[in-house]
Amino acid sequence: MTAKTYAILNYGCQMNESDAEHYAGQLQELGYKAAEDFHDADVVVVNTCCVRESAEKRILGKIGELKGVKANHPGQIVCVAGCMAQKDGGKLIKKHPQIDLLIGTAHVNGFKEILAEYLSEKGERVYNSLEVKESEFEGERIRQSGFSAWIPIMYGCNNFCTYCIVPYVRGRERSRSIENIVDEVRQAVAKGYKEFTLLGQNVNSYGKDFGVKDQFAKLLRRVNEIPGVERIRYMTSHPRDMHEDVIKAVAECEHICENFHIPFQSGSNKILKAMNRGYTREKYLELVAMIRRYVPEAAITTDIIVGFPGETEADFNDTLNLVKEVGFDAAFTFIYSKRSGTPAAAMEEQVPLEIKKARLNLLMEAQNISSLQRNEVLVGKTLEVLAEGPSNNNNKVWSGRTRTNKLVLWPVEGRDFELGDKVQVQIETAQTWLLKGKAVE
Ligand code: 5AD
Ligand code: SF4
Repeated sequence: MTAKTYAILNYGCQMNESDAEHYAGQLQELGYKAAEDFHDADVVVVNTCCVRESAEKRILGKIGELKGVKANHPGQIVCVAGCMAQKDGGKLIKKHPQIDLLIGTAHVNGFKEILAEYLSEKGERVYNSLEVKESEFEGERIRQSGFSAWIPIMYGCNNFCTYCIVPYVRGRERSRSIENIVDEVRQAVAKGYKEFTLLGQNVNSYGKDFGVKDQFAKLLRRVNEIPGVERIRYMTSHPRDMHEDVIKAVAECEHICENFHIPFQSGSNKILKAMNRGYTREKYLELVAMIRRYVPEAAITTDIIVGFPGETEADFNDTLNLVKEVGFDAAFTFIYSKRSGTPAAAMEEQVPLEIKKARLNLLMEAQNISSLQRNEVLVGKTLEVLAEGPSNNNNKVWSGRTRTNKLVLWPVEGRDFELGDKVQVQIETAQTWLLKGKAVE
């Protein structure tokens, strides 16, 4: 008998990518093999995101498409997991009867049992309670990358920024124990993984739910000591909770990368207040200054939202000026998307789409100039790059990332490189999105 197969269609953030690896691990534990094409898979998991309306629309299109796919493959099991499953629950099944199982965000660990029960026709179809307290990882992951591993350290978020749906769909903060995290890192090291990204919606509050403060810096230092760990990254940080102890840990620990991703969202104090962010632009600039003091070579990246309700031209200019003043290495820029159920969705003075688009363009232009400037400074320098493989199916050029998370391309020139190799690359040219150079030594 040929083995049953599965496919995972993943959307959204790194946490979702990590959850998808856990779904794949559990499916393999149940004896399923990865399908080459989701149309033919016996189990399809759609792992969803609802952070912005655009993501939701795309995913609803895919769920619609699965109706036809399933009609051609009787017996196919369609699981909808993740943030939309959490948000919309049973309503999704009513509207899209092709869905067999709905798995909310707090049930990833229990997926194996949920699926087994469903197959034995005993189980429920909707699992979206957020009352599950389980945060310790069990079982296997089938990781996408061969050298870089996602390591979730906490789930959920307590922040309630007024634009954001995440606290409603991911529940309150639950941290994994340091032992459970260290075990997973050790196991991944034994399989050859070199780079570890510690994940959480707000990593700086790691461990607060255990009643202890400043645990994140301790966790970073602990992971730094695990033999075989070459690089440590983490995301996402909250400017309000990012303190000196973490910056010091980055400065002092050999393996923690010099890349700070600290979303500021808006440069206007009025908008930051309306967003419930808990800091001012002045505090944010102090944080940037502290980072530059301890880690002068650090890359600083950020997330920015334009068109939050009530954002005037003057507020937007505050954002634009902050971008110019800080000189970010990169920024993820978003148009504010109304998420029903969040406080901002009910705010008056929603900004018209045309204005939001125009502001986004201006912001991206300013950021592109800054990204290029930050990259140009690196021309002539020799940087440590972790090799990720051939670039764009072109075996003559390899790509990888610097410790500051910049993409670098270099010609192979007859040399042999392996995935995860540390390569010294002398930078010759800088572009907005990448650097090019030659391997030296
Ligand atoms: N609209 C637009 N962007 C959003 N983000 C979160 N919620 C929204 C929303 N409603 C952005 C924030 C966050 C990133 C992951 O997504 O910038 O940092
Ligand atoms: Fe999307 Fe947020 Fe859920 Fe990640 S946590 S999948 S960004 S809604």
